[in-house]
Amino acid sequence: MSENLIEVVDAAGLVRLTINRPKALNALNSAVLSELERVLSELEARDDLRGVLITGAGEKAFVAGADIAEMHEKTPEEARAFASQALRTIKRLETLPVPVVALVNGFCLGGGCELALACDWAVASDNAVFGQPEVLLGVIPGFGGTQRLPRRVGPAMALDLVTTGRKIDAAEALRIGLVNRVMPQAELEAYAEELAKQLAGNGPAAVRNAKQAVHDGMDQDLDSALALETALFALGFAGSEQKEGMGAFLEKRKPNF
Ligand code: CAA
Repeated sequence: MSENLIEVVDAAGLVRLTINRPKALNALNSAVLSELERVLSELEARDDLRGVLITGAGEKAFVAGADIAEMHEKTPEEARAFASQALRTIKRLETLPVPVVALVNGFCLGGGCELALACDWAVASDNAVFGQPEVLLGVIPGFGGTQRLPRRVGPAMALDLVTTGRKIDAAEALRIGLVNRVMPQAELEAYAEELAKQLAGNGPAAVRNAKQAVHDGMDQDLDSALALETALFALGFAGSEQKEGMGAFLEKRKPNF
């Protein structure tokens, strides 16, 4: 049964993951997180992986949050273990060495928003709804929202969202930089596929190093982060991609990575 909680479709290294609990608006329970972590560990081991798309089953929700029914009776120790499981899983998604695109096709709340925040790109349908409504349930975000949200949208807007619990529409999510693009739901699928293909067509090592520079650099002081960038920039000259990319420019042709 747990096999179906995450649907995996692989098209030549471009992998689409669908969180598949539509009756519960794809809420994240321990079984979904375990299955997602298992799938991600398999993806980490692949050297032909070029990109990952993650979305929610059905037309109503990306992910409506952590599973409230499962959390309701948890003790503090159990809550800590649940959050740790989610944080570990979300970190594995974030650190995949390929572009990861969240295809936000509806409600994107609580743990769902926290999952989307760990993706490199977020494209949303115009009916998507975002928020960190945990305070309305008597808790705070536990899957990384208090940390990744201010890093994405700045502390003032993050504090607004996590202290009011208010929901925002896709247009506001775009305006504050929570998502990269918004479009009608009917166009979302095709756009995200095209975007993932485009990202996957770039030099894989360059994309991996760019991700690492941004992610690791954000947590360092400026001088250390710039030194990291220099190291990763120089590293790019050690592989074949740089010769191909720059050679193709000089020869006025498309690069073949
Ligand atoms: N956990 C468990 N079940 C959920 C859920 C969640 N987060 N969100 C929705 N569901 C379930 C509902 O209980 C309902 O199940 P039943 O049919 O068995 O009653 C089903 O999904 C459909 O939901 P609704 O009937 O409520 O649908 P709606 O269209 O009326 O409302 C909604 C949609 C506004 C998203 C509403 O479902 C909602 O408010 N959901 C909860 C959102 C939320 O608070 N998320 C944060 C969770 S806490 C968290 O994530 C903590 C953290 O950081 C770790």
